[in-house]
Amino acid sequence: MTDVQCVGVVGAGTMGSGIAQVCAAAGLDVVLLDVSEAALERGVAAIAASLDKRVQKGALSAQEKQATLQRLQTTIRYEDLARVQIAIETATEQPQLKFELLRRMESALPSHALIGSNTSSISITQLAAALREPSHLVGLHFFNPVPAMALVEVIRGLQTSEDAYDRAMVFARALGKTPIPVANRPGFVVNRILIPMVNEAIFAVQERLGSVDDIDTAMQIGGGHPIGPLRLADVVGLDVVLAVMEVLQGSFGDNKYRPAFLLREMVQAGLLGRKTGQGFYKY
Ligand SMILES: NC(=O)c1ccc[n+]([C@@H]2O[C@H](COP(=O)([O-])OP(=O)(O)OC[C@H]3O[C@@H](n4cnc5c(N)ncnc54)[C@H](O)[C@@H]3O)[C@@H](O)[C@H]2O)c1
Repeated sequence: MTDVQCVGVVGAGTMGSGIAQVCAAAGLDVVLLDVSEAALERGVAAIAASLDKRVQKGALSAQEKQATLQRLQTTIRYEDLARVQIAIETATEQPQLKFELLRRMESALPSHALIGSNTSSISITQLAAALREPSHLVGLHFFNPVPAMALVEVIRGLQTSEDAYDRAMVFARALGKTPIPVANRPGFVVNRILIPMVNEAIFAVQERLGSVDDIDTAMQIGGGHPIGPLRLADVVGLDVVLAVMEVLQGSFGDNKYRPAFLLREMVQAGLLGRKTGQGFYKY
């Protein structure tokens, strides 16, 4: 049984709104914090739209949707985190911003509260070092879209206590997710394996191994992938794929993580995938 009744979510963007939604849907109270009322409104609108889709599908009743939304409190004041047992940082991926934000969270939280970070690429050990009590920080890497994706990678920094790790695992299960313990290494497990595979598919296009469609179809029916790696690159965003490859190459110093030249060039051209209307496919 999780000791958590109320969750703080700091950052109401794509991931923060998704995490807030699954927490509220699991019956927990949520304090959703962002820098502005406008950012909070966007976050709540995204949650309401996602819940509406579930109502239309018959997966949720209109009353359950209302009850879920009522468990959400939005705020721009850190003091409102005083009533939570866990706070998850889901703000923009910038180390300095996260250090500052984690310190502010720690000052506002009850002393026994757990602190999670949803970072995709920053070391949990490095983030924990920003805290007075670094043993309370644990990586909680949710996947996008959060309501649909069951996996949470649970990452222990060098300083993370056994107790914090155990509570994080129990908390993730209470949300109906499947937590997997992962060591604190760049890319964790999924991005470490998935993104180089996507990069390799881009090398295959560059080397004219096959057409974009044929490479994707081959991986779907030959590799059992639900969508081809090039369509996946378009969904993730080619800029994000490039950034992950650069983190892997920089931190491991291993040339096997070099980004495909075509990937770099498409990013330079602004062909970032679905979000710009064109990547390997047109939208
Ligand atoms: N998008 C993904 O697919 C994905 C997947 C897994 C993990 N992540 C990680 O999740 C985190 C958030 O990513 P996102 O895609 O939701 O970003 P996003 O840009 O959609 O949202 C970031 C939010 O943080 C808010 N913010 C910025 N500064 C803040 C501050 N000082 N205090 C409070 N809020 C602040 C912004 O206003 C914005 O609402 C990043 O660390 C990212 O690496 C993203």
